[in-house]
Amino acid sequence: MPDDSGAPGISGVVDWRLLEAAAVAAMRNAYAPYSKFPVGAAALTLDGRIISGCNVENASYGLTLCAECALVGSLHMTGGGLLRAFYCVDAQGSILMPCGRCRQLLYEFHAPGMEIMTTQGIKTMDQVLPDAFGPQDLEEPR
Ligand code: THU
Repeated sequence: MPDDSGAPGISGVVDWRLLEAAAVAAMRNAYAPYSKFPVGAAALTLDGRIISGCNVENASYGLTLCAECALVGSLHMTGGGLLRAFYCVDAQGSILMPCGRCRQLLYEFHAPGMEIMTTQGIKTMDQVLPDAFGPQDLEEPR
């Protein structure tokens, strides 16, 4: 569980171009016949893996799975762990901000200090989802 107070922090340099390429490759696998808005997401895990995901839509529109859903599934299917850096793109390969629900999905698995490439440059998870509700809120009765 992420713990911003004392857990091992992130270190090293993030290869953002590699993450961008992984996100673009993931976007090409998107199933988005309804919105025609393919999305690809990629992340670097704390232990150095690159994982990715694409959006998968459904004829029952509300059941659409965002690219980040596939990404967190992949995180666990490939060994679990925490997210160190994240990059999301649209069909043009332009940076896309994760939607609110997906920020919450990412928050669950963020390493302390996790970085997100945004349209305004690199930001931290805490900047894009301030005062977040998370696993820490379930730890003990208030
Ligand atoms: N989408 C994502 O995959 N991730 C986001 O963070 C934003 C939105 C998808 C959902 C839907 O398939 C399409 O983009 C249009 O909303």
